Amino acid sequence: MLIAVTLAILGATSSLPKGWALPTWPSAIDELEDLMFLHTGYRARAFSAGVTPCSFSQQGPSRIASAEWLRTAFHDMATGNVFTGIGGLDASLVYELGGNGGENIGSAFNTTLETFSPFFSSRSSMADLIALGVYTAIRSCGGPVVKVRGGRIDATSRGPVGVPQPENSQRTFINQFARVGFNVSDMIAVTACGHSMGGVHANNFPQIVRPGTAPNDFQLLDSTPEFDEKIASNFISSDDPNPLAGPLAKANSRDSDTKTFTADGNVTITELADPATFQATCARVLQKMIEVVPSRVQLTEPIEPYEVKPGNIQLSLAGNGTTLTFSGEIRVRTTVRPASAIAKVDLLFKDRLGGSDCGSCVINTEHKGNADGFDDHFAFYGFSTSLSSATSISGFNVQVTLTTGEVEMYDNNETGYPVQDAILFQPRQSCFRQSNGAGNLTVVAAVRNPVEAPSVTLSLTTKTPRNCCVVPALTKESVAMIEQGSIGPYTFYSISHIVDPAHKPTAKFDVSVGDGEAVKSDSFKSTADLGSTCAPIGSDDPPLPGFSYEGCFTDTVESRALTGAAFVSDELTVGDCANLCGQYQFFGVEYGRECYCGNMKNSESVLVDDAECSMACSGDSSELCGAPYRLSLYKNTEWVPTINPEIPGYNHLGCYNDSASSRALSGTFMYNEAMTVDLCASFCDGANYFGVEYFSECYCGDSLSPTSTEQPDTGCSFFCSGNSTQFCGGSNRMNLYMKETDPARKS
Ligand SMILES: *[C@@H]1O[C@H](CO)[C@@H](O)[C@H](O)[C@H]1NC(C)=O
Ligand SMILES: *[C@@H]1O[C@H](CO)[C@@H](O)[C@H](O)[C@H]1NC(C)=O
Ligand SMILES: *[C@@H]1O[C@H](CO)[C@@H](O)[C@H](O)[C@H]1NC(C)=O
Ligand SMILES: *[C@@H]1O[C@H](CO)[C@@H](O)[C@H](O)[C@H]1NC(C)=O
Ligand SMILES: *[C@@H]1O[C@H](CO)[C@@H](O)[C@H](O)[C@H]1NC(C)=O
Ligand SMILES: *[C@@H]1O[C@H](CO)[C@@H](O)[C@H](O)[C@H]1NC(C)=O
Ligand SMILES: *[C@@H]1O[C@H](CO)[C@@H](O)[C@H](O)[C@H]1NC(C)=O
Ligand SMILES: *[C@@H]1O[C@H](CO)[C@@H](O)[C@H](O)[C@H]1NC(C)=O
Repeated sequence: MLIAVTLAILGATSSLPKGWALPTWPSAIDELEDLMFLHTGYRARAFSAGVTPCSFSQQGPSRIASAEWLRTAFHDMATGNVFTGIGGLDASLVYELGGNGGENIGSAFNTTLETFSPFFSSRSSMADLIALGVYTAIRSCGGPVVKVRGGRIDATSRGPVGVPQPENSQRTFINQFARVGFNVSDMIAVTACGHSMGGVHANNFPQIVRPGTAPNDFQLLDSTPEFDEKIASNFISSDDPNPLAGPLAKANSRDSDTKTFTADGNVTITELADPATFQATCARVLQKMIEVVPSRVQLTEPIEPYEVKPGNIQLSLAGNGTTLTFSGEIRVRTTVRPASAIAKVDLLFKDRLGGSDCGSCVINTEHKGNADGFDDHFAFYGFSTSLSSATSISGFNVQVTLTTGEVEMYDNNETGYPVQDAILFQPRQSCFRQSNGAGNLTVVAAVRNPVEAPSVTLSLTTKTPRNCCVVPALTKESVAMIEQGSIGPYTFYSISHIVDPAHKPTAKFDVSVGDGEAVKSDSFKSTADLGSTCAPIGSDDPPLPGFSYEGCFTDTVESRALTGAAFVSDELTVGDCANLCGQYQFFGVEYGRECYCGNMKNSESVLVDDAECSMACSGDSSELCGAPYRLSLYKNTEWVPTINPEIPGYNHLGCYNDSASSRALSGTFMYNEAMTVDLCASFCDGANYFGVEYFSECYCGDSLSPTSTEQPDTGCSFFCSGNSTQFCGGSNRMNLYMKETDPARKS
């Protein structure tokens, strides 16, 4: 039985707000939670990179991305209507930027949406990303934490018009903000909070900033670019740089900040000049702003970081079906106690029936790396293990042992972290093959017997660029998978589906069985992670016809295991190395990207445990390519040893040296791409000597130059260009043949 110790008992909840429910994994916000908190380091998602530091911009000196992210959220939200329940933060802005943008002037919106697009997925709507952008931009600029709820649904067309414009009257502003549920003081606050960052571009608004009067034709709205109360304190002082409260804007009736801030006789704006009031009020009104959503949207609880979060969990059936491979990572929040205070992290798991038929039922992990967010730190612990497929797994608790010996138990709000074994995606037997401009996605899944619902489906979600707008379309298609027979306690299903290869880096897919409430899925898999070769069903090794895997061997720089050719590639696969070393008896892959060939293996290189060859290949993360000083060795089972063939009437003398300045044989010469020893012999047509050199060269002569002498055989290791099982000399080395009756040479 599992020890059910709750977090509360351990006191680990002390840093959580009072009354706050612990998040339970898995949850719909899991992808957003990663984007929100994993900024830098291991598994960083780097959503914040676009606004870090606060002044960051890729668009030149007059652009500030953080201000643009905030403005994007405001413009998307501003046309909502809390009375009709229509509009709000729904990414309808995506469709409202055609032509010159209408009431959404300037390129900032397209730039922001383009920056968000790589993060857009079936688990992170564009509207949720726009909301997350507010938290991220504000926090990066020194502002407060704006709470973010998930669950927004993206609009599929443009929304209503009515974004507040600088020329509107004070009355119109009040009405426009009332439509989105903001009273006068909240209107003033959200405007001030929004205008704490960013500025006005003279080219977009020449009636507010006169072109040629500001550096880069860009004027900040307050005296600092950071998120602070200066927008308010500047306003109530005599010296306000804000162009939206300045004389030019006023003369053109575009002094919108004056019109807004004075709407309650300066009460709110005066309060906001206090730094603490400003930060607290902004946290509230900006959260309120991103929660203006269409009435059909049900927002989740605000996203908080998990204390412990599983990731990249994969259960799959191995080999002949007796074992399951179970791998993944456990992310531990290390904000309250550092990663250095953690001695180890273990998984205590239950078998598939919730019992302990798994023996000790412990899985150890190893530390993989650390990551950081604005306010939080995380450490990752990885595992990969084999489980009995008969007893399998249903879930686990996470036990964190501190260096002090203290033990913390995380049980996912008392439910344990669930692992379903009803349907398993099979990464080794799945692949994405590209040929002739087409992509062929093959996905294999294993469904636990008895298969109660025969409908097994692959759902593929692709991102397709569109002409209308900078945000791609998400397209989901489902195809039925086809039964392939049973192995162990599972029945295999597979499907091959033709996909534009352009989708490989971004497409996601799920495999599922059953329908409605009873549906079970292994989901959100990336086609980017698929290799180019599928292992056959029932095997874990991609087929490599003609080669056998010999095992994991030691290798050193001083004494290489294989001493033939060597190659290095950042796109290496096992198959590539097999091709490169095609003419050798052995090839081996090492350190992810190195390929070695040889006809003999150095005896100093010894067999070690297979698990030591654990590095993914640089060109295919689903294949293993050795490790540092560890070679995954393969043997060419069809290899034919290369020889110096016998030529009737001639003796092979050996490997002789030769040079362009002093030819060993000075009779006729031939170069032929299809050189063989036999071809050279017949070309020299009865000469006393002939020799083959440098793959494709043939020399004839009736006498041998005395300067050419016998050299070690290793110098003549080049294959003949016309027959790779024959030797054709080397560089300045020839395989020399002499007529049996040559009178000049008696032995
Ligand atoms: C945690 O579990 C309790 C009951 O055990 C439940 O009321 C609460 O909603 C759960 N919290 C979450 C975030 O699911
Ligand atoms: C405006 O609404 C906020 C809540 O959003 C409330 O706290 C405040 O008292 C209201 N102000 C006025 C002047 O009604
Ligand atoms: C509000 O503040 C502005 C700018 O400081 C000032 O011009 C105006 O007179 C003030 N209005 C009131 C009612 O105090
Ligand atoms: C399956 O493979 C394992 C090792 O991978 C082996 O021990 C076992 O005997 C095999 N079972 C069958 C039924 O072939
Ligand atoms: C796609 O790949 C699968 C397995 O690799 C193969 O059986 C199938 O014929 C391929 N389909 C096409 C259209 O090439
Ligand atoms: C935004 O991008 C779309 C699609 O490329 C384009 O049609 C539109 O003109 C752009 N809008 C602005 C305001 O730059
Ligand atoms: C290549 O050379 C080998 C060894 O001499 C010989 O057995 C074989 O027949 C040759 N192959 C061809 C295609 O000529
Ligand atoms: C061959 O090597 C010998 C030394 O082993 C050297 O003296 C001679 O010059 C070389 N001949 C040619 C043709 O390079």
